[in-house]
Amino acid sequence: MKILVKIILLSGLILSLAGASEQIKAIKVPGNIGKIGPLSKAWLSVEYTDVILYPHTTTKKINPEANIPEENLKAKKVRVKALYDGKNISLLLEWKDSTKNTQKDCCTRTYADGFAFQFPTDYSDVMKLPYISMGSKDRSVVVHLRKASEQVSKPKSNVHFHSLEEYYDTSYTTVQDNEDVENGRTFVMEGFRSIVEIKDKNASGVMDMVYKEGVWKGTLSRELKTEYLDLEKGAFPISLITWDGNVSNSDGIEYLSPWIGVKLVGERGGYELLDSLTTQVDGYVANGKRLAVENCAACHNFTGSAKTLVNMAPDLSNVGGYSTLQYLKESMLDSSAVVVPNYNPTAEEDFPWYTLDENGNLASTMPSYHWMDEKSINDLVAFFSSLKAQSEE
Ligand code: HEC
Repeated sequence: MKILVKIILLSGLILSLAGASEQIKAIKVPGNIGKIGPLSKAWLSVEYTDVILYPHTTTKKINPEANIPEENLKAKKVRVKALYDGKNISLLLEWKDSTKNTQKDCCTRTYADGFAFQFPTDYSDVMKLPYISMGSKDRSVVVHLRKASEQVSKPKSNVHFHSLEEYYDTSYTTVQDNEDVENGRTFVMEGFRSIVEIKDKNASGVMDMVYKEGVWKGTLSRELKTEYLDLEKGAFPISLITWDGNVSNSDGIEYLSPWIGVKLVGERGGYELLDSLTTQVDGYVANGKRLAVENCAACHNFTGSAKTLVNMAPDLSNVGGYSTLQYLKESMLDSSAVVVPNYNPTAEEDFPWYTLDENGNLASTMPSYHWMDEKSINDLVAFFSSLKAQSEE
């Protein structure tokens, strides 16, 4: 009896942590912050919020080139500050990186440290936020990206990239005039098939990054409202990304936060969004794990499952780190709603992750679990949201 009570208490504890995520407060300041960088004194007036970023291993692990050392699979603690002046918003991201890696010239395949801020273009329904890394069909994201560069490429205007490789290759080609890239680059993305670069300076904002004593500080300053994105609703979701170029991988390893709420302190609205992003799931982790081993482990690898073939489906070992509860639930109830783009289609010849229907839409090969009772779904969500890498000190 005693043991039973203990187990219930323990899983109850995990339950109460599952889904809890940070919230960033943007403080209103007088004056114009439209172009402030990492060294601006304006930052002195705001407190940091700690955020944890998780190694994005969903598809990386299936990439045969990706050989990620264990120590890089830990989650990363970063710090954020946010300011707004009524017209512009500025964000500061600070993270530790013991090695400074910059992109030096046009043609070597060295990888650079970098960072990005990502915003969903439509966040009216938390149930339908875009796929966290680079958006998904009909659910676009605006991404502001800055890689540490010494001599970098001049981006072509309005380029449509067809693959991630093409996108990175283009960003590493020759340049004379590096002014644009120095400011960072802004994309609207609906998954890897649809990546459009925004060249309009007013819509893309300004980015900068500085490295000192093992710490990167990166900033983005942009208008709250542009034709691509409206952040004037009291609160909005954001996802933070850093890259460590030192880790040899197709583009350095990516660390990613889930969608986190940013509150414009002093503005009305956005409360419902913030509540949904910090909701906790009412489910039992231990039962969720049992259901996961029964129903999901044939295709997915995750902590505590017997290993299946690596290329059958995304690796879920970190999925709780960068997914909202709503996303986990939707993945189960309607697997084709968001189809995880995969970088390496050739690796899955025998097990395609999706097929194309007659209208050209992606259909997931994962079965939907809409027949499951609500309690079981919640237990599964509680279990998968508890799966995340341990954080570094
Ligand atoms: C027949 C194989 C198969 C089974 C069984 C299966 N899945 Fe999947 N799952 C996939 C494939 C393939 C994808 C990638 C395509 C997509 O996004 O639907 C996927 C994607 C996902 C994702 C999105 C992952 C990400 O990185 O964003 C989640 C979450 C998920 N599955 C959860 C589950 C859960 C929970 C179960 C069990 C209740 C389950 N899956 C059972 C094949 C499967």
